[in-house]
Amino acid sequence: NTGKLWGGRFAGGPSPELDALSRSTHFDWRLTPYDLAGSRAHANALHRAGLLADADHAELLRGLAALGERYAAGDLHPDPSDEDVHGALERLLLEEVGQDVGGRLRAGRSRNDQIATLFKVFLRDHARVVAAQVLDLVEALADQAQQHLGTQGGQPTIMPGRTHLQHAQPVLLAHHLMAHAWPLLRDVDRLADWDARVAADSPYGSGALAGQSLGLDPTGVAAELGFTGSTANSIDGTASRDFVAEFAFVTAQIGVDVSRLAEEVILWATHEFGFVTLHDSWSTGSSIMPQKKNPDIAELARGKAGRLVGNLAGLLATLKALPLAYNRDLQEDKEPVFDSVDTLEVLLPAFTGMVATLVFHGERSAELAPRGFSLATDVAEWLVRQDVPFRIAHELAGACVRRCEELGCELHELSDDDLAAISPHLTPEVRDVLTAEGSVASRDGRGGTAPVRVREQHDELVARSAAL
Ligand code: ARG
Repeated sequence: NTGKLWGGRFAGGPSPELDALSRSTHFDWRLTPYDLAGSRAHANALHRAGLLADADHAELLRGLAALGERYAAGDLHPDPSDEDVHGALERLLLEEVGQDVGGRLRAGRSRNDQIATLFKVFLRDHARVVAAQVLDLVEALADQAQQHLGTQGGQPTIMPGRTHLQHAQPVLLAHHLMAHAWPLLRDVDRLADWDARVAADSPYGSGALAGQSLGLDPTGVAAELGFTGSTANSIDGTASRDFVAEFAFVTAQIGVDVSRLAEEVILWATHEFGFVTLHDSWSTGSSIMPQKKNPDIAELARGKAGRLVGNLAGLLATLKALPLAYNRDLQEDKEPVFDSVDTLEVLLPAFTGMVATLVFHGERSAELAPRGFSLATDVAEWLVRQDVPFRIAHELAGACVRRCEELGCELHELSDDDLAAISPHLTPEVRDVLTAEGSVASRDGRGGTAPVRVREQHDELVARSAAL
């Protein structure tokens, strides 16, 4: 037996060049446990349909279980002659249970409905792994936020909030850190949405494309494999890969979300910022410069985001304009998302460890928070509370900044005379709002950076992630 799943109509075997091109066992072998589970469910369906005698059914189940044990023990391998995981496992099953019994299993199914089903089950399993890892990262961010909320005595840590990377308005560090946590929580939500959609459509029973004629029960197979329903259209069941593309999108989005935090950690760890120190176990040194401590985890996160985006783009390019139903192009759908899964599963634990062990230098970020005239908006809003129209208030606060630039000082350093010279509205009381603490405390609307709101936000974040 050559391990070929076809041959009856061919006079000769395939050329070695074709075999080499066609072979996918080097990447699809990891689907073995899923293929075996699918085969078990299929054997049960054949048995229920009266197409498999009790003894043959029992023997098939025994054989499949034996292959599963050998795989788990690292003792099951494809041959170079095997084209794909399905062919290899059929060959191995025939060796295990004999030609007559083993040769009955393929009735009523095709590799086309088989692969679509297995791939869904595989991705659903890994969606769970990735979601749990993303939640660990959210938890690390929430813990860091908690430590800088000023709830354990002390003051909440303040930092410069930025737009256009320029100082904009002071914010709480906890507020900023949680701004990275919320998108990650939405990514977990996206995985859950995706999962529910995929669960509703088990492709088993679609056959090659037109369905099966043997009275098998696709709903039963679906239930056995953890699906909530089976596909309504056998062509769609075998031809569609939007579930792969959507998975690739969510994993790419996770990479992108992580990369934005990564970029900030890289900046924060520079001498110029000096906002954080990386833990020794979560940073690297240089082979030549003895002083170096590098944020390699964050840089790799930033780099791998590109790779995750590339996997999505490549997959969409493969799918574009493919006619229905199955085409061999679809074999190209696996490597990109296997890579995305492998990439995130190794990246996320390292990234979470780095985040959890960051030491923030609150004095440094607090010192910089009011610099760069980041309290100018507070001046304008103080004037509004003195009944000055905002357009004028904005002009006056801008004039204060201009005066500071001339004098080389910060807003709170303007003298009473400087202020009065700009406008009689600018009485010395304006200085009450010219502290970063006063500024953050005043932003107390829902979602704002006032400590009281950020503490509520933290509770909300913790509750929301616990519910996922
Ligand atoms: N290995 C193929 C894939 O990954 C499944 C086999 C379908 N092959 C075929 N000739 N119909 O898509």
